[in-house]
Amino acid sequence: MHFLDALHARKSVRAFRPDPVPRELVEELLALASRAPSGTNVQPWKVHVVAGEVRAQLEREVLAHRETKPHDERAEFPRTSKRKEPYIGRMRKLGKDMYSLIGIPKGDTAANWAQWGRNYKFFDAPVGLIFTIDKDLDAMSFVDLGIFMQTLMLAAKVHGLDTCAQGAWNNYWSVTRKVLGVPDDQYIICGISLGYADETAPVNGLVSEREPVENFATFHGF
Ligand SMILES: Cc1cc2nc3c(=O)[nH]c(=O)nc-3n(C[C@H](O)[C@H](O)[C@H](O)COP(=O)(O)O)c2cc1C
Repeated sequence: MHFLDALHARKSVRAFRPDPVPRELVEELLALASRAPSGTNVQPWKVHVVAGEVRAQLEREVLAHRETKPHDERAEFPRTSKRKEPYIGRMRKLGKDMYSLIGIPKGDTAANWAQWGRNYKFFDAPVGLIFTIDKDLDAMSFVDLGIFMQTLMLAAKVHGLDTCAQGAWNNYWSVTRKVLGVPDDQYIICGISLGYADETAPVNGLVSEREPVENFATFHGF
């Protein structure tokens, strides 16, 4: 697959088929992703790859915890809840597009809660990836991890696989830490669902919008 085809074909998939992904293929994707650049080549990414019974246990324990303590956990690292425009508008547009596609009416909090909970099933993907970095690294390492994740997602697409990046995993970090044995000196940053898209699922028909270049780029000296 040509790079540009992979770039355009990648999208967040939120419903997967159960078809397994072999460990060797995940290892290959991780090796490809590790070609991502990082500041001073620190390569800060650490990845927990979950499948089978461990994946099922993680799903069970996080969802059970979420039922009893829905609001008590937030990311361990600083995250703002004070998004302003234009970011809040873009976020709402994505939510509106997604929920109208899957038939969840505005204000249906139960359905909304259930749909968001699918994050913690990795949207039924057979493989989940949980990314951590050492707590004493600085913000630049978060940038490095983002580049690593996008490299991985593009490599997956080239291999016929689909993905969804998931910040949702840092909401219930304490359970994830316990189940996977993540040391206390690491932040649990993000997850990725990895598998084969269920193309019949309406949610996968979502096409997210982008701002035109002139809305975010300022050219100097041309
Ligand atoms: C860092 C990061 C965290 C994300 N977290 C979630 C998440 O928790 N759940 C989810 O359904 N999508 C999540 N997404 C997917 C975004 O909603 C998606 O990338 C965005 O809407 C653009 O759509 P696209 O990926 O289909 O191009 C995340 C994406 C990124 C990059």
